[in-house]
Amino acid sequence: MKEKILKVLMESGDYVSGQELSEKFGVSRTAVWKAIGQLKNEGYTIEAVTNRGYRLVAAEGGDLLNQAELETRFTTAWAGRPLIYKERTGSTNDDCMVLSDAGAGHGTLVVAGEQTSGKGRRGRAWISPTAGNIYMSILLKPRVKPAAAPMLTLVMALSVYQALEETEHDRSVRFGIKWPNDIVVLKDDGNEKERAVYRKTAGILTEMRMEEMQIKDVVIGTGINVNMRNFPEEIAKTATSLCLALERQVNRAALTASVWKHFEKDYEIFEKTEDLSGLKKAYEAGLVNIGRTVRVLDPKGEYTGTAGGITDTGELIVHVPGEDAPRCVGAGEISVRGVMDYV
Ligand code: BTN
Repeated sequence: MKEKILKVLMESGDYVSGQELSEKFGVSRTAVWKAIGQLKNEGYTIEAVTNRGYRLVAAEGGDLLNQAELETRFTTAWAGRPLIYKERTGSTNDDCMVLSDAGAGHGTLVVAGEQTSGKGRRGRAWISPTAGNIYMSILLKPRVKPAAAPMLTLVMALSVYQALEETEHDRSVRFGIKWPNDIVVLKDDGNEKERAVYRKTAGILTEMRMEEMQIKDVVIGTGINVNMRNFPEEIAKTATSLCLALERQVNRAALTASVWKHFEKDYEIFEKTEDLSGLKKAYEAGLVNIGRTVRVLDPKGEYTGTAGGITDTGELIVHVPGEDAPRCVGAGEISVRGVMDYV
């Protein structure tokens, strides 16, 4: 009930009478009054004026994440339709798969405020406390060939990067993509580019299921460290959050809506060609590896080179000294590390 009332107040922007709310939702005036009390306890400022009703006072710079906050900000046609918000869950990726098995369709989005068994890449855990972060997964039923599906992870990285670029930030803060799909941020401390230390602020885990040689579904899970301030020791040196980089709180609902606005547009470009040819330029604009020394951890033998851009299918182009033709490194099979630091 409180979510529905919140949505009405948000959309109205003006006073809405208790009578109107009680009639709209078929509940008593006392039930409306109780829901308003709950919203106030959650941090909303709501004015109550006799004969006029309730009015939501816009909370500047606030960060409340719930179904209504998300729904009022979404502008997409299919990405995040439907949108399911959970205060706490195991893993939003797992939720999407369960929903898919129960018949949920392309574009279904699960957003959570906390994960108790968040999954990272390479079987690692994704630390997911209720510390003001974003944990979200989208269910896709792509109409593309199976070989194209792994590229979706780069599409997602691009969309997150584009949404971050759109947040208000001064020029000393630089966002980037670490190939293939880590989102990193740099606070410029005047160091040379090759020595600049980027830290990870978002990660993406894509899981695909097949059925009779066809894609059954793809789930893309994204974790963004937004308002988290303390990091466990094992990631303290390589991870950061947006609030630490920007030195202000970031509104998660607005950022979430912006990510999916970009994803919907990027996905449609990808789907047309079933590759990254239409997105390559935008992706490379954010790619922090370009021009940097990378060590490629190829099981057949490690080597070092200088990263160029990406191919139309999302491989990283690496120029190895003494070799005429560049090598193309595929995500998934091979890991790439920066030589000086994390990137
Ligand atoms: C990585 O290791 O970089 C990928 C991290 C992906 C984390 C997100 S959080 C939302 C979704 N649910 C999960 O269990 N994992 C992904």
